[in-house]
Amino acid sequence: MRRPLIVGNWKMNGSRSRNAELLGALLSRWQGVHQAEVGVCSPSVYLQQLADCLTGSNIWVGAQDVSPHDSGAYTGEVSAAMLAEMDCHYVIVGHSERREYHGETDALVAQKFAAAQKADIVPILCVGETLAQRDAGDALVVIGEQLKVVIEACGRDAFSQAVIAYEPVWAIGTGRTATPKQAQEVHAFIRDQLGEQGLGVRILYGGSVKGANAADLFAETDIDGALVGGASLKAEEFIEICRAAE
Ligand code: G3H
Repeated sequence: MRRPLIVGNWKMNGSRSRNAELLGALLSRWQGVHQAEVGVCSPSVYLQQLADCLTGSNIWVGAQDVSPHDSGAYTGEVSAAMLAEMDCHYVIVGHSERREYHGETDALVAQKFAAAQKADIVPILCVGETLAQRDAGDALVVIGEQLKVVIEACGRDAFSQAVIAYEPVWAIGTGRTATPKQAQEVHAFIRDQLGEQGLGVRILYGGSVKGANAADLFAETDIDGALVGGASLKAEEFIEICRAAE
């Protein structure tokens, strides 16, 4: 009932020539009709390149961040309407790297979530706990609060046009993946927080997902796909993850 979704987050990686090579390899390895849906989120300066290569294909264009504002004196920011002009279907909001390095609060993340939806772009809302929070037994409290702020600002119904990514901060880029059981526990909790609306919402897992561990994660009832960082920069490995979701 929930279509699997795999989204690559290139983070601040790439160059025009490397992107062209990677996108070409993805398109040739992911031809035809698939059960899983696939998207790629690039740095904003490369979105036009993604749009040129991917529009009309079976791979969605996505962005990594969006301004909460419509337009105006916000130097360096990119609005949701601008992303829509680049054919963006998805945008990541509230990634832990934005929360940590740019001081993004839950309230700001909720504004970004709403801004994306206003432009008909599907937000991928990232939530997740740090290692200290997990060790203190607070993982679900932290995630519950991150979600609550967006639910209160935008309403549960808004999640019918949204994706959630559970990304334990301690598993991002560390090679240390949450076990399928650990991830499933959090995914089930997230779904529960959304009430009836939660049944249709896709909840992705992110944090050191690779070809080798993807199938075990996707076998869990509430894991509907992945938000993939490092492994999305290697075409063969990324497609292996996509295939594991089918
Ligand atoms: O957005 C993706 C996540 O931060 C996961 O990154 O797969 O490199 O651990 P990673």
